[in-house]
Amino acid sequence: MAQAIDPIIKNVSPELIMALKEALTNLAVPELNTDAWSLNILREVIMEERLKICVVLPTFGLRSEKNIAFAIKKALVEHVGDPELVDLFIYSDVKPAAVQSIKIPEVADVRNIILVSSGKGGVGKSTVASNLAVAMASLGCRVGLLDADVYGPSIPVMFDLEGEGEVKGFSDKETNTTYMIPPIKYDIALMSIGFLVDTDAPMIWRGPMIASASMQMFHNVYWGQLDYLIVDLPPGTGDIQLTIAQKINVAGAIIVSTPQDVALKDVVRAKKMFDKVSIPTIGLIENMSYFMCDGCEKRHEIFANGGAQEQAAKLGMSVLGEIPLVPSIRSASDEGKPITALEPESELAGLFREIAHDVCAFHALQATAEVLPNNSVLNNPQRANEAAPEKKRRLPVL
Ligand SMILES: Nc1ncnc2c1ncn2[C@@H]1O[C@H](COP(=O)(O)OP(=O)(O)O)[C@@H](O)[C@H]1O
Ligand SMILES: [Mg+2]
Repeated sequence: MAQAIDPIIKNVSPELIMALKEALTNLAVPELNTDAWSLNILREVIMEERLKICVVLPTFGLRSEKNIAFAIKKALVEHVGDPELVDLFIYSDVKPAAVQSIKIPEVADVRNIILVSSGKGGVGKSTVASNLAVAMASLGCRVGLLDADVYGPSIPVMFDLEGEGEVKGFSDKETNTTYMIPPIKYDIALMSIGFLVDTDAPMIWRGPMIASASMQMFHNVYWGQLDYLIVDLPPGTGDIQLTIAQKINVAGAIIVSTPQDVALKDVVRAKKMFDKVSIPTIGLIENMSYFMCDGCEKRHEIFANGGAQEQAAKLGMSVLGEIPLVPSIRSASDEGKPITALEPESELAGLFREIAHDVCAFHALQATAEVLPNNSVLNNPQRANEAAPEKKRRLPVL
């Protein structure tokens, strides 16, 4: 359980705090298997001309956020009488992943790295990674996407960045290091092996370059501060995957598969690899799960249904989502805009957003490292007041 952080309480009666405690204790947060009080979200309760309360949730995209806000407001209004006198500020913060090994250097300013893997190519790994990145960013997370698929980098096409010229860099004189500056699209910092290595060149030439380029993409890219860096891995369980799994501190891995049996057998191999290197498996995504016919709006189960569920259960992991085979997913990617960015209100975008919620919750459950309370909010109420409560909020950094 998280270490308790004492909230700042000013000019507020103990009864009010007790009322808040009761309201939050009675509110279940099912996605985190706990109640809202145990999450230790209360940071400030201050009575001046108005009653100001500030809470910090342990992740973005918490499905219970609305319920928490409602419960707090209700308790406060019952106490104060006038809802107009209450200011509620809800922030979110994302914890860094637990460190697997102190020998592994952290990727600067990147709190969590999530691998998207698959047993074989062509199952939609890049499609899932791109749409998941867009969906997580839409929940408020700061997201980067690293395309490590040396056999078929697709992020340049999927984000319409092909032939954009050389990646710009800058030198940090203090550390004598050169960093590449990732292009940003839809609020996502992007880096692809396709930007760095001529992927049409013969393998014998690009082999050694690829090995070093994969690592450079983690450490020599100016990612900025990220909550999540999503990594589109090459298919299978080869050297590159293993090197990344061993040399990078990873928060969790997602396995993408199609419903066919063969692909599902590959799932076992991928799961075993992650187990071996102690990387938690977030879950399985079944892509091209069924065919959505735009003529009859019917769900056609072309392959046997339920295979992913069965396999996931056997391996002790969950199914994060079932994505249908829909022509618009492919055409959107080909046009350089993931469907979740192109049609954010669509049902498909909704499916990816649901997965994003689950990934955030999984992570909040797993992360053991505690982010220190951000003093800038606590000691600078002015700042907290500036934040627009209806917008996605992160703790302001001074
Ligand atoms: N759910 C889907 N519906 C329709 N087309 C898809 C779907 N998922 C992927 N595709 C298409 O299938 C092809 C392979 O997908 P991709 O994401 O590149 O796979 P991978 O990265 O695993 O090799 C691409 O043309 C992509 O647009
Ligand atoms: Mg790919």
